[in-house]
Amino acid sequence: MKTPSAFYKPLAIGAPEPYRELPVSLERMIHFVPPHIEKMRAKVPELITKVDVVLGNLEDAIPADAKTDARNGFIQMARENEFGSTGLWTRVNCLNSPWFFDDILEIVPAVGDKLDVIMLPKVEGPWDIHYLDQLLAQLEARAGFSRPIMIHAILETAQGVKNVEEIAAASPRMHGMSLGPADLAASRGMKTTRVGGGHPDYAVLSDNNDGGVRTAHQQDLWHYTVGKMVDACLSYGLKPFYGPFGDFSDTAACESQFRNAFLMGCLGAWSLHPTQIDIAKRVFSPEPDEVAFAKRILEAMPDGTGAVMIDGKMQDDATWKQAKVIVDLAKLVASKDRELAEVYGL
Ligand code: GLV
Ligand code: MG
Repeated sequence: MKTPSAFYKPLAIGAPEPYRELPVSLERMIHFVPPHIEKMRAKVPELITKVDVVLGNLEDAIPADAKTDARNGFIQMARENEFGSTGLWTRVNCLNSPWFFDDILEIVPAVGDKLDVIMLPKVEGPWDIHYLDQLLAQLEARAGFSRPIMIHAILETAQGVKNVEEIAAASPRMHGMSLGPADLAASRGMKTTRVGGGHPDYAVLSDNNDGGVRTAHQQDLWHYTVGKMVDACLSYGLKPFYGPFGDFSDTAACESQFRNAFLMGCLGAWSLHPTQIDIAKRVFSPEPDEVAFAKRILEAMPDGTGAVMIDGKMQDDATWKQAKVIVDLAKLVASKDRELAEVYGL
C-alpha cells in the first residue's frame, strides 16, 4: 500500500495530476458499439445525442480476426466525432491477451486526449490496475495530456470479487466497476448459460406447514456480488454499475435487474441493444414521485438535523441524507435531460 502522500503523485514525470475526486458526470447507460462495423460507426453521431456514454468495445464479442479493425475503427470514431458531455470510453482486451498492449499503445497516443475511461476486463487484483496505471502515466506524459484517463474495472472473476476492495483502492485513476455476470458465472463454476439476470431454479421454496401448494420464490443470483461491489466502490469514492443483460427479448426482466442494482446503489448499466438505452434511462433516473418526496424532506429540515413527520413517516438526519442522494442525482439528470428537468421541477 502506498503512503497517503505518494498516492496522489503522478506516476511519470510530466503526467497529469491524478484526480482527487471523480469528475461529475451522468452515466446511466454505457452503450456498447462494435467499432469494426462501419454501419455501427455511422450511428455514433446520433448515439451521442441519446446516450450518456459511448463505449467502443474491443474485447469479447469482437472476433479474433476483427481485433485490429475494431481498434482502428475506435480510433476513427473517436477522431470523427465531438462527444460534448457524452462520455467516450473503450473496453480494451484483457491483460493476458495478445491484443491488450497494442490496444493501449495505439489508442492512447492517437485519441487519449478525448478518451474519458478505459474499461479493463477480468481484473483479478490491484496488480492489474497498477500495471495499466503506470503505462497510462508514461503515455500521457509523452503525449503531454492535461487530464488523466480513468480506469473502470470489470468485476468478473472469483479472484476479482475476493480482491474487490484492494482493486477499488489501487489508484486515484479508478473510476468505478461493473459487474460482469457472464464471465463471473464461468469463473465461479456457476451452472448457468446466461448473461446476467435471474435463474428460475435459484429459488426458495415456501414451507409446507398445512400440506398446501408450495410456491418457489426466485432469488437474485447477483445480490451478494452487487452488494460487495457497491460497498467497495462507495468506500473509495468510486461508481458501481450493473453490467450486461443478454436476453434482449426480455425487456421486463432487464428492467427489473437494472432496478435492483439502482436501488442497491448502482449508477448505471451497460446497454448492448437500442431497447436497453430507454430502459436504463428510465431506471437510473430517479422516479419523479421519489424526487418530489425527497425535496419535501430537504425543505422540511433545512439544516438536515432533528426529526419531522411527513405523511406519517418519520424523517431524521439519515433520511435527509438519503433524500439528498436522490435530489443530487435528479439535478444531475436535469442538467442533461430538459424533459425530466421539467417533470422534477428543477
Ligand atoms: C461482461 O463482460 C460479462 O462477462 O458479463
Ligand atoms: Mg466479460
